[in-house]
Amino acid sequence: MQQPTLPNIESASTELYSSFWEQRWQAQQTPWDASNSSPIFLQFLQHEAKQLFVKNTSQYKQFYGLVPGCGSGWDVFNMANYFGALLRETSSQQSIKTKFVGLDISETALLHVRQDLLPQRVPEKEFQQLCHFEGADFFQYEFEPKYDLIFDYTFFCALHPELRAKWAQTMSQLLSKEREGILATIIYPLKKQQDAHTGPPFIVSLAEYQKVLLPLGFELISVKDTHELTSHPARQGNEMFALWKLKKN
Ligand SMILES: C[S@@+](CC[C@H](N)C(=O)[O-])C[C@H]1O[C@@H](n2cnc3c(N)ncnc32)[C@H](O)[C@@H]1O
Repeated sequence: MQQPTLPNIESASTELYSSFWEQRWQAQQTPWDASNSSPIFLQFLQHEAKQLFVKNTSQYKQFYGLVPGCGSGWDVFNMANYFGALLRETSSQQSIKTKFVGLDISETALLHVRQDLLPQRVPEKEFQQLCHFEGADFFQYEFEPKYDLIFDYTFFCALHPELRAKWAQTMSQLLSKEREGILATIIYPLKKQQDAHTGPPFIVSLAEYQKVLLPLGFELISVKDTHELTSHPARQGNEMFALWKLKKN
């Protein structure tokens, strides 16, 4: 991601933020878009997230997933395809409430997702119905009964650093503590690619996430470095994968 920079945070109303992103999508300047989920997220779906899904759909009869700043929606499509198939194998769909929400502030991005990408990337109509793309500002967004899984990739780093505490606050309100929801994050980019004061993306680190998440009662469950099999090729050595949940007490 190169210039232009985000508007100064002091004057950055929702409208200014939204128009910054809207312009990028309209001009098709979306260099962050890797045309699929990261391999490490796909592995996570098959292992850790699968266990949570099986537990929560059997115990609570519900499972909700969220991708804030979803862009082209790749992660939402993969959640719906993967969990949709699991749901079909393991239970009667009528009795289980499931949906996967992609949230983005850019209507242009979402129009392309709904009209073109969703039918291509989620061929099964039944699984398409699990996907919901909502045009909203993450910081204004509310959802009850809260999420079992939230995935953040290139959203944290897209926000002005002054918004990080608010990002964590919003995550804590959206994630289910009762159902032991998981916040999955890919911490990217770790290395300085440009002047650290300009962005997006803004440079991030595990410590930056800990600084805002730990005071709100999140705990770090696991953190992994990525390598050639788990990163997009251009991002090798420049990202880590971390899982968080809200402590019960
Ligand atoms: C760098 S892109 C990442 C897109 C996607 N996660 C990916 O990895 O391809 C950041 C996305 O966040 C969206 N966005 C920025 N601020 C937002 C906000 N406050 N609420 C919702 N979406 C926002 C932008 O429109 C953009 O699509």
